[in-house]
Amino acid sequence: MANKNVIWADKATLSKDLSGKTYIVTGSNSGVGFETAQQLVKQGAQVVMAVRRPEAGEEARKNFKNVKGTCEVMKCDLADLDSVRNFVNEFKAKHNQLDGLMCNAGMVNMENKPKYTKHGFEYTWSASYFGHFLLTELLLDTLKATPNARMAIISSVVHAGSPKSRPKVHLEDLNYKKRKYDNFAAYGEAKVAVVLYAKELAERLEGTGVTTYSIHPGWARSNFGSGGGVIMKSIFSLVQPLTKWFNMSDSSWESAQTSLHCLLSDDAPQHSGAYFSQHSVLYRDKECKKGGWPMKSPNPNASDMDSARKLVKMTRGMVGLD
Ligand SMILES: NC(=O)c1ccc[n+]([C@@H]2O[C@H](COP(=O)([O-])OP(=O)(O)OC[C@H]3O[C@@H](n4cnc5c(N)ncnc54)[C@H](OP(=O)(O)O)[C@@H]3O)[C@@H](O)[C@H]2O)c1
Repeated sequence: MANKNVIWADKATLSKDLSGKTYIVTGSNSGVGFETAQQLVKQGAQVVMAVRRPEAGEEARKNFKNVKGTCEVMKCDLADLDSVRNFVNEFKAKHNQLDGLMCNAGMVNMENKPKYTKHGFEYTWSASYFGHFLLTELLLDTLKATPNARMAIISSVVHAGSPKSRPKVHLEDLNYKKRKYDNFAAYGEAKVAVVLYAKELAERLEGTGVTTYSIHPGWARSNFGSGGGVIMKSIFSLVQPLTKWFNMSDSSWESAQTSLHCLLSDDAPQHSGAYFSQHSVLYRDKECKKGGWPMKSPNPNASDMDSARKLVKMTRGMVGLD
C-alpha cells in the first residue's frame, strides 16, 4: 500500500502560510496534481485547477481535506491549443497575479500508433510539452508581474533513457510524421523537451525574479497508464509493488512533495532551470537525496542549450506565437 505518511519535503515548506497567493495546477483532478493542489489549498492558497475534464475536477475538489484556502476548476485541455488560449483568457479576466504555475499534467498514448490533436501535434507530446509551452508563454506577463513567481514542469526519469540509448528531441520531426512511431519513445522525448524548456526559460527569465524547474516525481501509484489495455495494466500492477524495494516514492503524495519543494521552498530559487529528481533505479544516482533535489540529468541531450534554444524558437512558430 502507498504510504501516505512519508514526508520528504522540509516541514517549514509544508507549513508556509500561502494566504493571498495564487497557483495554477494542471491535471489536478488526479494523482500527483491532486495532492499538489490539495496541499496548496491546505496552506491557504487560491488554487486554479486547470483540468481537461471540469466535471472530474469538481468531483476531485470535493475530496480536499482541511481546506484553508480556496480553489476553482477551469477547463484546460493541453491537447487543444484553443482550449489553452481560452483558459488563459478566463484566468486573466479573474486574476492579476500568479505565484506559481505547476505544469503537472501528462500521459502516454497507450496505443502504439500515433494519435494526433486537431492541430496536428502528437498527443503524448502535446499533453506534456506543447500545451504547457503555450500556457506558460501566454502567462509570462502575469508571472513576471508577481514577485518571486515560479514555474515548474513535470518530466520523468524516462527522459534519461539508458547509457546505450539516450532520448533526444528530433527537431526535424518532433511529431512523428516521418519516423516510425513508438509511444514510449515519444513520451521520453517529450520529457527531454520539458527539461530543456525549463532550462531555456530560466536563461530567458534571468533577472526577472521568475524561476523555473523540471521534475521527476518518482514512481507514483496514480492513474498514470490506466488508459492502457490489459497487458499494460498488468505490467503496471506488477511493477508498482517493487518500487519500495528500490527506495522510490510510491504514492502521489510522496511525489507531490518534489513539486511543492520547487513551488514553495526557500532553497529552490537558487537552482533556477535545474532538474529536481526523486530516486530512480534508471540512473542509480547515489547523490540524489530523498525527496529529490537538483541533480544533473545523466542524459547529455537534456542539458544541450543549443538544442533548447532551437526547440523553443521552433515551438513558438508551431503553436502560433510567432
Ligand atoms: N506516476 C508516475 O509514476 C510518474 C512517473 C514519472 C512522471 N510522471 C508524470 O507525473 C505527472 C502526473 O502524472 P500522475 O502520475 O499524477 O498521473 P495521473 O493520475 O494519470 O494524472 C495525470 C493528469 O494529467 C491530466 N491530463 C492528461 N492529458 C491531459 C490533457 N490533454 N490536458 C490536460 N490534462 C491532461 C489527466 O487528466 P484526465 O484525468 O482527464 O485524464 C490527469 O489529471 C505526469 O506529467 C506524468 O507524466 C508520473
